[in-house]
Order: sequence, then C-alpha cells, then structure tokens
Amino acid sequence: MLGRLNHIAIAVPDLAAATETYRATLGASVTAPRALPEHGVTVVFVELGNTKVELLEPLGPDSPIAAFLAKNPSGGMHHVCYEVDDILAARDRLKTAGARILGDGDPKTGAHGKPVLFLHPKDFAGTLVELEQS
Ligand code: CO
Repeated sequence: MLGRLNHIAIAVPDLAAATETYRATLGASVTAPRALPEHGVTVVFVELGNTKVELLEPLGPDSPIAAFLAKNPSGGMHHVCYEVDDILAARDRLKTAGARILGDGDPKTGAHGKPVLFLHPKDFAGTLVELEQS
C-alpha cells in the first residue's frame, strides 16, 4: 500500500530562522515561504534529491501545530507523509484494520493540491502519519 516518502514535516517557532539554518548552515535549496491559511500554517519546502522537508510555522490563532509547539517550544518533527496510489482504498483498509483516521475520515486537499488524510499517532509508533495520493 505504501509508496514513496513524500515529505517529513518539522514544526518551527520561527520560520525565517529555520529556513536560514537549512539554507546557510546545511547548504540546502529552500523555497520562498507560502501561506496556507486553510491549513493554518506557513510552509517552506527544503528540496532534497529523494524527498523534501517541510518547515511549518503556525499561521493564525487556530493553527493545528500550535499545541505541538507549546509542548516543543524549539520545534520538532511533526509528521511523515507517505504516498499511496488510492487514498480511499488505503483509508478503507486502515479502518478495517482498526486504525484511527483523524477528522471526519474524508480526504482534504493538502499542501501540494492532492488529497491527504492523517492517521492517529497512537496507532503508528507514536508518529503522526499523513497519506497523500500520488
Ligand atoms: Co505534510
């Protein structure tokens, strides 16, 4: 069912500082920041050869990463995103297996314009998992 690693997302309290760390200290190629109000984050993509890292900063008062940053004030790894061929088939298989899908169980449009779902971290070794249709 699982395909490629699409991205790893890191929540950061200061996007400009984190971007500069990746650009200047690590020598990575980074994009300009992009505000995604419907997701409550501003994102910078760190472009790697085989995948990407997304640096996420809260946007707006109800950001879904605000609670995570309250617990991890200097930032931290927030989720991993795997690609699947068919997100509805993946969801149904996971539901049958007893895994918890976050939200109402219907895919939303993710940061790359493709359908995504999030899976409960307690069902996946303590890691928040995003599935994105490839
Ligand atoms: Co993501």
